[in-house]
Amino acid sequence: MKDLQDCYILKNGVKMPCVGYGTYKTHEEETYRAVRAAIDIGYRHIDTASLYGNEAAVGRAVRDCGLPREELFVTSKLWNDDQGYESTLAAFARTLEQLGMDYVDLYLIHWPIPEGREGDWQTLNQESWRAMEELYRAGKIRALGVSNFLPRHLQSLMDTAQVPVMVDQLEIHPMRHQREAVNFCQRNGIQVEAWAPLVRGRAFDDPVLRSLAEKYQKTVPQICLRWSMQQGIVPLPKSSHEGRIRENADIFDFALAPEDMAKLLTLDGELGVGRHPDHFGEKK
Ligand SMILES: NC(=O)c1ccc[n+]([C@@H]2O[C@H](COP(=O)([O-])OP(=O)(O)OC[C@H]3O[C@@H](n4cnc5c(N)ncnc54)[C@H](OP(=O)(O)O)[C@@H]3O)[C@@H](O)[C@H]2O)c1
Repeated sequence: MKDLQDCYILKNGVKMPCVGYGTYKTHEEETYRAVRAAIDIGYRHIDTASLYGNEAAVGRAVRDCGLPREELFVTSKLWNDDQGYESTLAAFARTLEQLGMDYVDLYLIHWPIPEGREGDWQTLNQESWRAMEELYRAGKIRALGVSNFLPRHLQSLMDTAQVPVMVDQLEIHPMRHQREAVNFCQRNGIQVEAWAPLVRGRAFDDPVLRSLAEKYQKTVPQICLRWSMQQGIVPLPKSSHEGRIRENADIFDFALAPEDMAKLLTLDGELGVGRHPDHFGEKK
């Protein structure tokens, strides 16, 4: 990958830009300003979700940015309460309305096991997927995927899916590698995305990361993002500050040597910022 606009090709041929801009926990005006800044800097891939409550601002920023809609790649997600066939159709309609768009590029099931659905999550996921397949066939979603799905969740969905799973978005950063899930996805042609690729800023003092930043004359966030990219994973860094949004894009002029990638193996398991997918998703 040579710049922000270089793409991976998903299973169905749809192109996904190799770095996305994340919008978790940013409110309307902040989201609008940050997404406009990100697009000006060169990001073409924006990640939102109905849970974040900022789809309308994302949509407005995309409309106002001056680029044709087809040059942007926009993801949204189906929240836990909306899983199920009819409720997925209704939730997706709300998402499109909020975004003010007539399609999304990628739509994800946000979490595999909503709270209280530990007994029937397999059927629930399959029903949500059936609705997503209809929307896909109708041209309202260009690619289908999931988020926080571990191999057993993926396998259950893959058993009945007619349209294949194309993407899995997981918490991945130097402190949490998710090796088993990443290997499973890569064996099955599922593109992996990394949420919290900067560990939400909680690992910037780590001595291994700091020593690599010094060695490559880069910042710790840039080391984290480069590490994701060198594994063929799409990082989705979030920042509300233009300077940092730019900094997070400046990761194409260096490469971590194999021995430095290996050093980062030692950090795996040090810290996770999200809940375990088997328990339940973040509450609204
Ligand atoms: N699928 C899921 O379940 C799920 C869950 C969580 C997140 N996500 C997606 O993944 C995206 C990224 O995850 P995240 O937002 O949780 O965490 P993140 O991107 O790892 O970290 C964001 C934090 O890092 C700070 N930051 C960003 N760039 C920086 C820099 N260059 N220097 C110093 N600090 C910097 C930001 O602060 P400032 O904004 O103040 O700069 C913010 O506090 C989300 O926005 C969302 O789109 C998905």
